[in-house]
Amino acid sequence: MQGPQVYASSLNPGESVPLIWLPDVVFEPISYIGDTAPAAAEQIVRRPLLPAPRTRFLRDFSTTSLVSPLFPVPHRHPQHSHTRTLNSLITSLQHHKFPQSLISPRAFRRTIMSFGTSAAARLAGKTVLITGASSGIGRATAFEFANASGGDIKLILTARREAALVSIKEEIEKAYPKSKVFPIALDVSKLSTIDAFVDNLPAEAKDIDVLVNNAGMVHGVDQVGTIAQSDIDIMFQTNVFGLIALTQKLLPLFKEKGKGDILNIGSIAGREPYPGGAIYCATKAAVKSFTETLRKELIATRIRVIEVDPGQVETEFSVVRFRGDKGKADAVYKGVEPLIAEDIAEVIVFAVSRRENVVIADTLVFPSHQASALIMHRKL
Ligand SMILES: NC(=O)c1ccc[n+]([C@@H]2O[C@H](COP(=O)([O-])OP(=O)(O)OC[C@H]3O[C@@H](n4cnc5c(N)ncnc54)[C@H](OP(=O)(O)O)[C@@H]3O)[C@@H](O)[C@H]2O)c1
Repeated sequence: MQGPQVYASSLNPGESVPLIWLPDVVFEPISYIGDTAPAAAEQIVRRPLLPAPRTRFLRDFSTTSLVSPLFPVPHRHPQHSHTRTLNSLITSLQHHKFPQSLISPRAFRRTIMSFGTSAAARLAGKTVLITGASSGIGRATAFEFANASGGDIKLILTARREAALVSIKEEIEKAYPKSKVFPIALDVSKLSTIDAFVDNLPAEAKDIDVLVNNAGMVHGVDQVGTIAQSDIDIMFQTNVFGLIALTQKLLPLFKEKGKGDILNIGSIAGREPYPGGAIYCATKAAVKSFTETLRKELIATRIRVIEVDPGQVETEFSVVRFRGDKGKADAVYKGVEPLIAEDIAEVIVFAVSRRENVVIADTLVFPSHQASALIMHRKL
């Protein structure tokens, strides 16, 4: 076995996160090393597997990721931030079915409360239901809610991959012992299961305050005339019908309480359709119309209806689009620096943690190289 290598030198001075690579060693995420916890940092670097590296531990940032050699640690491209480098690594680990519990995107996140004490107080004690929480934006949003609330939150996490949800629960509850996470399998495209899912929620999770309708997917880049009916069905069932069904099911509860937040994840695709995306774009345009109608219908209530429209975000989204072909998915991000899931999670939690009278009705979030669905500046 080779000795451990410290992969810190390629990170940006002043904002770096040390990434320590231990060949042949499965890593254990370590949640905090920072200037307020020097003793903990020392303890970690003194462990037998980590002989005192010359790693700098920098202010306000966590932490250390230890990564198996099966997955090459990417060298940071000069135009890529360290966050992107780490994010591609994590996407790669997830793609290779590296156990979710051993992957810690949170490892490079700030551990201070994200939006300060006012936001934490506004989120305190809330129950948040997130669909599509097993990966990407939904997963990051779960961590962001836990972080921003200082753990004073209940999270109902749903998706089809229950094992992934369970690992997220374990990780969040370990980091935030006050939090309570309910991982519950739900396929939003199976509309007949939605009523029972809500009706059978554990008693302590029934009083939902925030619904994040995030589950969504795209299949293929086929043009009209060649699109498989099964792809049309699954995209509409998941992105539109599932979102509508869950919203309709929870709306009476929100109306009874006179408040609540419904946050729908749309897309630039819903504003600007592009060739090869007819169905996906149509689903996201439907989400936009539905969301705007709902906001108008609920004008006399304190129910906030929020839409967040991401531009390009590197998640499992493109891997799903190309049916598991990681090479094709990676090509989408060649020469550009896409957003990471955490960027959108921050916007979601920011919107929800505003004062009750503030509705962040609509946002469109691009990475800096993107100016429309198809206008991207690529450095190849
Ligand atoms: N990434 C982008 O560039 C981008 C841009 C604009 C908008 N968006 C939107 O952002 C949202 C999240 O996508 P992402 O980028 O985070 O992609 P992702 O990593 O592929 O995550 C999608 C999530 O949706 C879940 N999901 C898919 N089908 C489902 C179903 N039938 N029932 C329940 N859950 C289901 C997946 O979980 P399971 O597989 O475990 O069910 C997964 O947790 C989607 O609505 C997407 O359209 C993404």
